[in-house]
Amino acid sequence: MEGSATNSHGTDDPLSKLPTREGWSEPLVLYKNYWLRPRFAATIMRLQNTFEARHDDIVLATNPKCGTTWIKALTFAITNRSRYEFGNHPLLFRHPQEVVPFLEIPRDGDMTYVETLPSPRLLATHMPLSLFPDSLATCGCRTVYVCRDPKDALVSWWHFENKIHRECSIDFEAAVNMFSEGFSSYGPFWEHCLEYWRESIACPNRILFLKYEDMMLEPVKYVIRLAAFLGFPFNIKEEEDGIPEEVVRLCSFDKLSSLDTNQTGELVWRGNLITEKSAYFRKGKVGNWVNHMSQEIGRKLDCIVEEKLEGTGLVL
Ligand code: A3P
Repeated sequence: MEGSATNSHGTDDPLSKLPTREGWSEPLVLYKNYWLRPRFAATIMRLQNTFEARHDDIVLATNPKCGTTWIKALTFAITNRSRYEFGNHPLLFRHPQEVVPFLEIPRDGDMTYVETLPSPRLLATHMPLSLFPDSLATCGCRTVYVCRDPKDALVSWWHFENKIHRECSIDFEAAVNMFSEGFSSYGPFWEHCLEYWRESIACPNRILFLKYEDMMLEPVKYVIRLAAFLGFPFNIKEEEDGIPEEVVRLCSFDKLSSLDTNQTGELVWRGNLITEKSAYFRKGKVGNWVNHMSQEIGRKLDCIVEEKLEGTGLVL
């Protein structure tokens, strides 16, 4: 569906030229092969010309609902471990979403906030790699990517959408169908994963590719690997003192979801998008999809993803 090419101010509106499709809580626009919420697409376009990357930036990239909150907490805890004690840590008082800003989803609409952060900056994004602003793509900074079983990500997304947009609840079967067609926020899901996967193989020092399921199984091992990749390796004394285990405990689903600060209150994002802080903590389990999808539908979704990823070496 094409719209008018000018906005209400009579100026050229690049969004209005993009294909749009309805089905999720708001129509999404197709920008460079990815389905995006219009306001995020507009910001991504703007960042191309305005964002100034720094070589020591640390980027945390995810598809939505693949462990963003968790990787924000882990990375913040690892890189700041010399500044804070675990018993009186900022993560006990602030939501992980508050300690690491999103590039294209500024809190309270403040686009200049990230410019004021001291280096090294921790920055999160759901942007596909191919939509990174040139300065970010070429500055040589490190990126951590977390992916997840698409079935669990879809179930998690469906719950989240229905929670933050109560006025337009989405039928689960319709959600599965749209997702399977590649139509989801920041989708196609598999293309998003694949871009980061390929780059992580080509440039392992630039991109660390992690899976939610692996991290859940062996969190200490992955925290140690993450710290080394970020340039904040644990020394022998820290390992002997159990600091990686402390990081894992502090950032665990059970710990974070039980905190008052994460149970009550709201986060306000750009364009008056309001989310309850608790919405970022639901089950925190691997394989929760079985409670929402039949084995048959699950297998169908697996087949679609396997087909899309055939020959790439990536298994989701
Ligand atoms: P579920 O809905 O399956 O429970 P994101 O942070 O990218 O929005 O992803 C949210 C998903 O991560 C939710 O999955 C949420 O429960 C889970 N999650 C949040 N914090 C977590 C943590 N500390 N450890 C593991 N999973 C976590």
